[in-house]
Amino acid sequence: MENFTFYAPTYFSFGDGSERQCGALVRRFGGTKVLLHYGGGSVRRNGVLDKVVASLTDAGIPYVELGGVQPNPRSGLVYEGIGLCRREGIDFILAVGGGSTIDSAKAIAAGVPYDGDFWDYYGTGKPVDTALPVGTVLTIAAAGSEGSPDSVITHEEGMRKWGASGEALRPRFSILNPMFTCTLPAYQTACGATDIMAHVCERYFTNTADVETTDRLCEAVLKAMITETPKVMADLGNYQARANIMWAGMVAHNNLCGVGRAQDWASHDIEHELSAKYDVAHGAGLAVVMPAWMTYVLPHDVQRFAQFAVRVWGCDMDFTDPERTAREGIARFRAFLSSIGMPQGFAALGAREEDIPALAAHIGLTGGRTLGGFVPLTAADVEAIYRLAL
Ligand code: NZQ
Ligand code: ZN
Repeated sequence: MENFTFYAPTYFSFGDGSERQCGALVRRFGGTKVLLHYGGGSVRRNGVLDKVVASLTDAGIPYVELGGVQPNPRSGLVYEGIGLCRREGIDFILAVGGGSTIDSAKAIAAGVPYDGDFWDYYGTGKPVDTALPVGTVLTIAAAGSEGSPDSVITHEEGMRKWGASGEALRPRFSILNPMFTCTLPAYQTACGATDIMAHVCERYFTNTADVETTDRLCEAVLKAMITETPKVMADLGNYQARANIMWAGMVAHNNLCGVGRAQDWASHDIEHELSAKYDVAHGAGLAVVMPAWMTYVLPHDVQRFAQFAVRVWGCDMDFTDPERTAREGIARFRAFLSSIGMPQGFAALGAREEDIPALAAHIGLTGGRTLGGFVPLTAADVEAIYRLAL
């Protein structure tokens, strides 16, 4: 295991009715005037926004609204939000929605106190050390942004979908009411489940030895997703299964499962090109990319893939041919994704084979740069993975 630090100080309030603490929590974490940030309207239609507003009003906290965040959030609204916060003297940003809304809120939070362009933080590794405080009311279990120090934004200029990170971006508090996720359509629910599982896999496939504790945590989260997701797909209003998935989404991405070990993240970057170009849901893109990536890198560490197959997917170990076991694990993962309605290839995403060279080139793996911590991938490797995903 490698040395590490772990500091994840988000305050979580979990369960039905937890949104009633929203106003008090804003106060507790220093907010006196809030930017209420949300997406395309689901929180209006399902009444979540009204509940949050009621809590802010009860606590006597003034707010300014900025809705309209779209999935795969864009820089345009971020610039608008930064200007609005400065003009209005906002000192706290409250995101009500999913990963896209939370990431947009984080980008605004980073941009308000910064003299330069907020985009300087994206795709550059420049850490966000100063930002307005952010709180979240989560409405979809997926991205894990409610507990992560990350934000992913698409810049309209060149459609670059890049991430920024920094401890200042970790939410001060997050309200997780599983009831709020019950209005999610089946497809969006499955996209979220896929993303959660991908966040674990990005950490699970590592070259670091002796990481039994985090291996086992990863396996536990994946196994919980394998039992709980079908329950929700069968009954979208299943509160208990929704609750388990909601917490799994947080645990999968606040790095509890990833400390002390090298991580990969190539599949995420390969997917971000798809969601930037075709505006597909991130989880749907991952469902296509991740099994292809696994198939491509399997020869690098057959034993680890065989372990994944046995411990997570319940395959029998073939000691004479561990690669057969490893391939069986990937096949079961693929079948699981298909069973929850996820796309299986480029066509189902609306992606085109002839775009593959441009997609791979757009990642920018030139001058010896590679992608991924498990197997360093060149642009040619990425192209091969896109072809396996056809
Ligand atoms: O916009 P509205 O109308 O709210 O509709 C949303 C949106 O269309 C809808 N939705 C959300 N909650 C709902 C609901 N519909 C009905 N009932 C509800 N309760 O769902 C759609 C998707 O929302 P979005 O926020 O885009 O989903 P998700 O949480 O999957 O976020 C995806 C974004 O997060 C990024 C992805 O790249 C993508 O841009 N990621 C962020 C990460 C992070 N910050 O740590 C890590 C992830 O790996 C990921 O890259
Ligand atoms: Zn993700």
